[in-house]
Amino acid sequence: MVTRAGVGPGREAELAEALVGLVDGDRDPYPVYALLRDEAPVLWCDALSAWVLTRWDDVTRAFEDAEHFGQLMGTPGTSSIHGRALLQMTGDEHRRKSAIVSRRIRSPRLLESALAEMVARLIEHFGGALPFAPEVADVKGGLTTPVPLSVIGELMDMQEAARFAHWYHAIVAAGVANVRGDPDVHARGLEARQELYDFVTPIIEQKRLHPGDELLSDLCSMEYEGEQLSDDEVRSFCSFLLSAGIETTDRALTSLFKQLALEPASWQRVRDDRSLVSSACAEILRFRAPVQGTVRVVARDLELRGRKLRAGDKVIVLVGAANHDPEAFAEPDCFDVTRFLGTERPQFTPIGPLRAFGAGAHTCTGSLLAKLEMERTLTYLLDRCERIELVGPAPADAGFMLRSAPSLELRLHPSAAVR
Ligand code: HEM
Repeated sequence: MVTRAGVGPGREAELAEALVGLVDGDRDPYPVYALLRDEAPVLWCDALSAWVLTRWDDVTRAFEDAEHFGQLMGTPGTSSIHGRALLQMTGDEHRRKSAIVSRRIRSPRLLESALAEMVARLIEHFGGALPFAPEVADVKGGLTTPVPLSVIGELMDMQEAARFAHWYHAIVAAGVANVRGDPDVHARGLEARQELYDFVTPIIEQKRLHPGDELLSDLCSMEYEGEQLSDDEVRSFCSFLLSAGIETTDRALTSLFKQLALEPASWQRVRDDRSLVSSACAEILRFRAPVQGTVRVVARDLELRGRKLRAGDKVIVLVGAANHDPEAFAEPDCFDVTRFLGTERPQFTPIGPLRAFGAGAHTCTGSLLAKLEMERTLTYLLDRCERIELVGPAPADAGFMLRSAPSLELRLHPSAAVR
């Protein structure tokens, strides 16, 4: 790649302006990401008061190098909107408390048995209610939203989760998505968080007295160095898990079905060769990462590509740009369902080059659960539908730090087996 590091201040200002133009979320970000990666991979953006990283190497370093990059806390536009949960923890405390969550959602045994059965049952329940063509199926409202929502609801024994989607939407909007630090968005997020906290507090009391066999009871009852998680920590974990586990997978599935509807040849290819299902799921996470960016703070002064980053500076880590870096992925702007054939699983762990789940110590705990949900939902529709067809033009993607189409309506043409 041609590197033109050290472009003049005028050009930097132009690039920063192009970046800010993406924040409202209606423009295609990928051409701007390409310019940034090429000309100003470590860009200071005054309007966002942050450094912006776009190359795969730098994004990966920001995730992995805990000495120089830490969590930004206590300011609007960060994941600390949830309170103190896993992302805000480090070292031994992080390792042990993340193990409480991992044993419920990363255990190979559970992923193959209880979790697989639960996910299959929920997909069947919601998917079975979607109408076939000529009727129009609301694939987002009827499948990609309720499946991950109900999965988290059942995991936490909070089946009422479906009723409080407005809480987690407001909380998510006030997290890293609030890239300008808008005080109103932040205030609405805090209000929603308080309502969620008020809702879960009596449940936590109950679970402490009578723990059941599910994740929320584990959070309420398991001990870390002889101490249980405090009520505040359990509440923060609830807020974070509801947000991290639902909207992300929902967006991933929406983008997957939108892309496969746009590319009937890719749909047919995966339908004919099911060994491509997993690769197609990893590829959509690369091609249209649901979490396009996250935030860090410089923990210790460092020099990166000739730029001096000072302790305390905010850093926006653009995963969506890293996933399109030609240094890491051949023909990155092409959606290729075969791209990860044979290397699917590493993409859902820190080992693979895919950055949709971050990297380093804070790599997404739910990535294997997301893999299960995505693969099973895709397989379900491949079995049921000969083809899927967009109703009118494809809905445009929206959002900057979190990005996907806000709705997805399709005509589902039944396969011979279900006709
Ligand atoms: C396709 C779906 C998903 C995507 C794209 C995704 C993306 C991410 C990303 C990028 C991070 C790292 C954030 C950072 O370092 O700043 C993360 C962390 C995390 N995610 Fe996910 N996620 C998904 C699904 C899930 C699910 C289903 C769950 C739980 C049920 C979950 C739970 C978590 C947790 C607990 C962390 C924090 C890990 C830690 O701090 O150690 N995620 N996720």
